[in-house]
Amino acid sequence: MRDAAPTTIYLKDYTPFGYLVDSVHLTFDLAPNATRVTSRIAFRPNPDALDRQFFLHGEQLKLIRATVDGVEITPDVTETGLTAVVPDAAFVWEAEVEIDPGNNTALEGLYISNGMYCTQCEAEGFRKITFYPDRPDVMSIFTVRINGALPVLLSNGNPTGKGDGWAEWNDPWPKPAYLFALVAGDLITHPGQFTTKSGREVELNLWVRPGDEGKCAFGMEALKKSMKWDEDVYGREYDLDVFNIVAVDDFNMGAMENKGLNIFNSSAVLASPETSTDMNFERIEAIIAHEYFHNWTGNRITCRDWFQLCLKEGLTVYRDAQFTSDMRSAPVKRIHDAIDLRARQFAEDNGPLSHPVRPESFQEINNFYTATVYEKGAEVIGMLKRLVGDEAYAQALELYFDRHDGQACTIEDWIKVFEDTTDRDLTQFKRWYSQSGTPRVSVTEDWTDGIYTLTLKQRTDPTPGQSDKLPQVIPVAVGLIGANGDETMPTTILEFTQEIQSFAFEYTVEGWRLQGCEGPERVSGANPPKPTASILRDFSAPVILEHDQSSAERAFLLAHDSDPFNRWQAGRSLAEDTLIKMILTDAAPETDYLDGILAVLRDSDLDPSYRALMLGLPSQSELAAMMHEQGVTPDPVAIWTAVETLRQVTAQHVQDLLPRLHSETSIEAAFSPDAEQAGQRALGGAALALTSRLDGGAKAAEDYQRADNMTLQLSALSCLLRAGKGEQELNAFYDRWQDDRLVMDKWFGLQVAMSAPAETADIVSHLTGHPDFNWKNPNRFRAVLGALATNHAGFHRADGAGYSLLADWLIKLDPVNPQTTARMCSAFQTWKRYDADRQALIRNQLTRIAETPDLSRDTTEMVTRILNA
Ligand code: ARG
Ligand code: ZN
Repeated sequence: MRDAAPTTIYLKDYTPFGYLVDSVHLTFDLAPNATRVTSRIAFRPNPDALDRQFFLHGEQLKLIRATVDGVEITPDVTETGLTAVVPDAAFVWEAEVEIDPGNNTALEGLYISNGMYCTQCEAEGFRKITFYPDRPDVMSIFTVRINGALPVLLSNGNPTGKGDGWAEWNDPWPKPAYLFALVAGDLITHPGQFTTKSGREVELNLWVRPGDEGKCAFGMEALKKSMKWDEDVYGREYDLDVFNIVAVDDFNMGAMENKGLNIFNSSAVLASPETSTDMNFERIEAIIAHEYFHNWTGNRITCRDWFQLCLKEGLTVYRDAQFTSDMRSAPVKRIHDAIDLRARQFAEDNGPLSHPVRPESFQEINNFYTATVYEKGAEVIGMLKRLVGDEAYAQALELYFDRHDGQACTIEDWIKVFEDTTDRDLTQFKRWYSQSGTPRVSVTEDWTDGIYTLTLKQRTDPTPGQSDKLPQVIPVAVGLIGANGDETMPTTILEFTQEIQSFAFEYTVEGWRLQGCEGPERVSGANPPKPTASILRDFSAPVILEHDQSSAERAFLLAHDSDPFNRWQAGRSLAEDTLIKMILTDAAPETDYLDGILAVLRDSDLDPSYRALMLGLPSQSELAAMMHEQGVTPDPVAIWTAVETLRQVTAQHVQDLLPRLHSETSIEAAFSPDAEQAGQRALGGAALALTSRLDGGAKAAEDYQRADNMTLQLSALSCLLRAGKGEQELNAFYDRWQDDRLVMDKWFGLQVAMSAPAETADIVSHLTGHPDFNWKNPNRFRAVLGALATNHAGFHRADGAGYSLLADWLIKLDPVNPQTTARMCSAFQTWKRYDADRQALIRNQLTRIAETPDLSRDTTEMVTRILNA
């Protein structure tokens, strides 16, 4: 073990720190391999704490000297921190340490990326900068002086002075150490300005390396929109004189919400039409909003301990989703989120890595920045809002901000503001935070004497550490549709709280209504036709719906459902049904699916982006999950073949419509990354993919030549690669973009993503030998090895080449960057779905990783959890 022996930390063991911190003064003397950090920290005993042990976290620090009230002391230093004898009264701690940012390849703490000093402290990186109580419930005011011969020297808060080779910053808002940030480098700003609703003038800067100036405008506008939106929708105003964003090329995650100094992976902020796809633009807008929104949900109100991570992440993801819905199309955003949740979170929640939205134990907290904490955490908030209503949600949020501003809080605090606002008992609702696994809701219908009844049954399979599950409160949004396709009952929320529960609907003069609700009485003697139910509208809960509907019923909903989500879902279910049949029986694709899709594509009143979504298919990994659930062992090649066949047949089926789609989606106006144009390009791209199935890539080759934006360039290139062509274009693309790191990531990734299953591993081997395969850069590593893991049939090649290749690279990366390595181990989380041979091959690779000498704590925890399933 290179890390200290792993210990498990439990939520139930929480105790407050023995001391409070009144102020922190930090001085940085920057030098690439010997940066000196001097800290002066004012401590005083915490009256609410019982334990007065003075322990400061600290890792990989060289202690030069330490004093208490000016008197030199010799603390007891271990691999994880130090203990010292200190007065039982207020005192001043001073320490000087030396660190080596130049050799910090883990990208945690202070490190250097392309000559730029930068930091990443969440969750526990500050302890690699200096000795400190590195826990989110210790909050303090930070004053920072940076000495360094670099033109731009930044830290949190407001600037208080600068001169040649130095700068000082003061952050007046008490914050935990994980929000500390420092940046120093040769940077250029793209400036902006924002006036808050109460008149505070805020200076905005987007700092980039020289050469990237042309990729800032979009991010700056997104920031201003976010600031305005948070004022308009949540009444939250910005609270400093400056807001800085810095783009960094080497970064483990998307971005980080450090107070007043957000640090971004350059892929999550830099954008231009020539180099970024529409998906990039949308993601960038969302991440900028996300980090900005953290200023209130995360920074002003933070987490008591890391088990409460979803308190800030779930809420902030929920807020950024609301923002995207407002800026773009709400139904399209909802569908994207459901696709993403099912692909990533359901896989996690139903495998060896399953954990509650609020975990109860961990070894390495970095392993819990997961789809469950973030995305399921956001879904939980969406359900809460559905249950209490929009008005109560707004009131509860007001109360939350009022009551807890400046505090480090828990999920209990969060739930309490809702209970106090609504007088509801949310005890059962809280299970969403403590119970892991995806609830399955099965539906049966009854139709007797003109009463329509839905009986819902919920069950959650056992997950690691949780064998028995209790029923959860599930808001199930239901609408009813009459035989002529008209809606006869608008969306109604069923509060589904029992294991089995029936909901009866009766026919009134105003249409169908849930029995027992207020309103006109049932029309007796009327003989209404049986309605069709549209269940789980707007994806009202993160559950798996098991509703055995006939193809005809699904086709009916695809044609008529007024809920855009469920209309899309009907098409998706038809696609799933037909694909599974094709895989299992070699059946031909069903006409209900093909005709339904054709009708949707023809309907030019429908938003193009929505029509493009309708053409999407479930991922091959999801199909494997569905088969596994039905007790069938998935064969990755058979799945791949069925998907290819369905694509081919769909292309033939909609052939006559394709020219019209191409002209309908050609854009005359100047490029704009807005939702409208993006939607047209999405549909155009989907049509091009179908066309390429018929013309062998002829139109794609033309489009590639005339492409003046990355969305089109990339979609044309992928069509060519899919058609087994495009070698020339691939080379031209390389020549054109070889100096642009973000575009080169696409070049690497696309070749892996588009490869045929038998070739994926060889293509990956080849690409990892390319001189531009800079594997220490997380974006580049993920572009290639991440794409291998998501090319389902390629990764699961029967001889295990995909598995061993990924394992080789994970073993190589681990000593350099444990966080990114550990995260990518999740590629193996679904291993128990596959046949015995594949399971054995994967087990061998996992064991090989686990037995690697000096494996990091991060990766050890991940492979152990996956293996022990
Ligand atoms: N708080 C950041 C965000 O959600 C993510 C930081 C993740 N850091 C980590 N070490 N896992 O925007
Ligand atoms: Zn976040």
